[in-house]
Parts: sequence; C-alpha cells; structure tokens
Amino acid sequence: MKRILTGITPSGYPHLGNYIGAIKPSLDLLDENCESFLFIADLHAVIKVSDPEKLNELSNSIAMAWLASGLDPDKTNFYRQSDIPEITELAWLLSCITEKGLLNRAHAYKAAMDINNESGKKDIDEGISVGLFSYPLLMASDILTPNATHVPVGKDQQQHLEITRDIAEKFNRKYGDFFNVPEAVIKDEKTVLGTDGRKMSKSYNNIIPLLGDEKDLRKAVMKIVTNSQEPGEKKDWKDNTLFGIYSSFASEEKQVEMKNMFNDGVGWGDAKQKVFEELNQILKPIREKYLELNSNQKHIEEVLKAGAEKVRKQTLPSIKEVKRLVGINKL
Ligand code: ADP
Ligand code: TRP
Repeated sequence: MKRILTGITPSGYPHLGNYIGAIKPSLDLLDENCESFLFIADLHAVIKVSDPEKLNELSNSIAMAWLASGLDPDKTNFYRQSDIPEITELAWLLSCITEKGLLNRAHAYKAAMDINNESGKKDIDEGISVGLFSYPLLMASDILTPNATHVPVGKDQQQHLEITRDIAEKFNRKYGDFFNVPEAVIKDEKTVLGTDGRKMSKSYNNIIPLLGDEKDLRKAVMKIVTNSQEPGEKKDWKDNTLFGIYSSFASEEKQVEMKNMFNDGVGWGDAKQKVFEELNQILKPIREKYLELNSNQKHIEEVLKAGAEKVRKQTLPSIKEVKRLVGINKL
C-alpha cells in the first residue's frame, strides 16, 4: 500500500501559493486508497525563525491552515514533527552513515555559501548553522521514520528526495533491506504569482493570505500590480499578473470570461473586484472553519497529540528495529 508523506515548514503565515501548490494537492491525493502522513515541520523552522513566540504562532497557523482546508484527522496521520522523538533519533543514526560530501552539495547550503562569497566574507561558512547544513538529513529522517513510499513535493525539494533515496539505499546495503526507497511525486505545480508579479512567497512580502479576513483579502487583491491603461482600453491577459493569479484558481470557463473582459477593456478596479469575489468564494469556507478552530485552541492541541500518539505506535517499533540492526540492543 502507498504511504504518502509530506510536511510544511512553519516559517511564515500560510498563503494562497501554499494552498494551491501544497495543501490542496496533498489533500486531493488522500482520496486514493493509501496511508498518509501530513505534518508540521516545526523542527525545520527553528533554522529560520529565531523568535520563540513567533515560531509557536506560525506552527499553530500552519496546523489551522491544514485543518481549515479540509484535512480530516481521522482519515490521515496529522502531527507535529517535534512530537515524534524517533525522527531526531533516527536522524542521528542516519548522520553516521551519510557522507558529509552529500550534504555539501545541497542547494540551501550552497546558496548560503554563495551569499557569503558574494559579500566577500573570508570564512565561507560564516553564520551558517549546522542545522541548515544538515537540514536534508532531518528531512530524510522525516520520510524514513514512518517508512513512506511516496512524497508529494514542489520541484525545489527534488534534490532532498534524491538525498533521502541515497541514504535509504546506503542503509539497506549496509544493514539489510529495511527502508522503502521513497519516490518524489513532483507536483506539476503551477507557480502562483504574488501581488508584485514574482512567485508568491513569504520571503517577498507579496502574499495573498490564506487565513486573513475579507478586508485583508481585498487589500491584498487591490495591491496586485497592473499598468497605467485606462478603462476602455483593450488589455492583454498574457503575462498579466492579475490574470496570472486568477488563472491559478479560476475554472477554464471563468478564465474565458475574464479574457473577454480584458479584450473589452475592463477597468483594473473592476477586474480586481471580480478576482476578489471569486477568490473570496473559495476562501470563505476555509476562513469560517479557521475562525471556528481559532476559538478552540485546545481542540487543535488535542488533534495533534492524538495524531502523534497514532504515529508513534508505528515509529517506536520501527526505530527499535533500526537500533537492533545497527547494533544497539538491550544488553
Ligand atoms: P514560501 O516560498 O512562501 O517560503 P514554502 O517554501 O514554505 O513557501 O512552501 C511550502 C509549500 O508550498 C511547498 O510545497 C511549495 O512548493 C508550495 N508553494 C509555496 N509558494 C508557492 C507558490 N507561489 N506557488 C505554488 N506553490 C507554492
Ligand atoms: N522541506 C520542505 C519544504 O521546505 C518541508 C519538509 C520537511 C518536507 N520535511 C519534509 C516535505 C518531508 C516533504 C517530506 O517545503
């Protein structure tokens, strides 16, 4: 049986790009007959978020984003990474068989070194934490602890899956077949554009928030960049940010309607109003569920605790077996 696993790092507030690129496709996959593991990668977030209160708040908002988007905790394993100590335990064991060179080539580490290089730092590793360096190893452990077979991720995570496969194969060669060698399920993700026309990302401050109220949503939509064309002038929908954003969530039929409006010279204000209304229809039920969840924080904690208990029933025996294989037994 397929064991699907994916995580989201709570390093920013959830946005429309996360919903369309990660949350919705993962939830859609769960309709198939499979086991699934969906988690909040809070240990990964410690690398990026240094304010403790903020980290807690972000973990909470990612949990709410999953639940408000329709995740049913009875149908999946939904948990917080930090509640599963077997993950960090396995990470250490994996680190002992992983060559440092494999991690030297990881994108995040290389990007951090490039920044140091460009700014003329003498020590290429200055300011780079061991956590950032070994991040792909922890990710491998996230995946191998519940022995997942399929991992839906964005293209940017493909290299991490290759590293995970390398590590699993190496373990299996050394200690005997134990881990599934997991496959990346690369989502044919259409990048959702941000309000400034670049990829929507918390790093660019160009997001449309997933859990904001109607006012926040309207404000974000009104911020979408357009040009100085007047109402009545024919507008080109190709390479247009407003249309680009609209096309990431609107049906084909609605997109044709919008193209016609562009051809007919719709004013930017009216076009934005339409984008707002359509988007609001999609986000309204999510927002309502979020408000309900937000007023019952205890419930979220209970859901995560129950999820962790369910997961640990599987991961505890698994890590025990891994330890036995490497030679850590009860004396
Ligand atoms: P960010 O770019 O805001 O830092 P993350 O890297 O935390 O987002 O992304 C979490 C998940 O959401 C990933 O699976 C990623 O592929 C998806 N995602 C993020 N931004 C977008 C986007 N603009 N379009 C589509 N998917 C996205
Ligand atoms: N690294 C992923 C991201 O930044 C999040 C993540 C952590 C993850 N552990 C994972 C995704 C395991 C899939 C499987 O988007």
